[in-house]
Amino acid sequence: MPETIYDVLRESHENQRSLCRKLLRSKSRTQERQDLFTALRIELAAHAAAEERYLYVPILMHDMGLMVSRHALAEHHEVDEIVEEMQKTDISDRGWIAKARTLSKKVHHHLREEEKGFFQVSGKILSGAQKNQTGEAVSEGFRAHAQGARRKIARANRIDGAVNGRRRSSSLRRRSTTRIAER
Ligand SMILES: [Fe+2]
Ligand SMILES: [Fe+2]
Repeated sequence: MPETIYDVLRESHENQRSLCRKLLRSKSRTQERQDLFTALRIELAAHAAAEERYLYVPILMHDMGLMVSRHALAEHHEVDEIVEEMQKTDISDRGWIAKARTLSKKVHHHLREEEKGFFQVSGKILSGAQKNQTGEAVSEGFRAHAQGARRKIARANRIDGAVNGRRRSSSLRRRSTTRIAER
């Protein structure tokens, strides 16, 4: 049987739950925490983009789908905002893990709402053929968006690295000047 859009989305939901769990269990100041955060950002970005394009936009034009899609898009936006805040916070900062907990709660809440209600509403609107055809399209869309998100994150990390490198060298300069002044 071909995969439907829901099979593909639910599989990604499980991946998001697992990444959230591992992230919260990871140790501070480790590469593992950094890598898990990167993986979660990619999964969330690719998932939201594919889901919006193949599920929420098509049902937005139906009366029954309007509220559901509005609600889901608003929650995707909230998740994006928490991720952005986490990116602006030093990962070794104590506040960072508190934000990660908020993100995990928000993600879990959103996935539950989708699986227990939004998917059922959209299932009534999308035709059988659409659901099956969209399953393949979503998988393709997922891969494309994940690749795009990966490239964006790699670029952002390079910029962060360069900025942090500059910060480090200027703070080293400051420290050595202070030491000279202390002598
Ligand atoms: Fe969603
Ligand atoms: Fe979803």
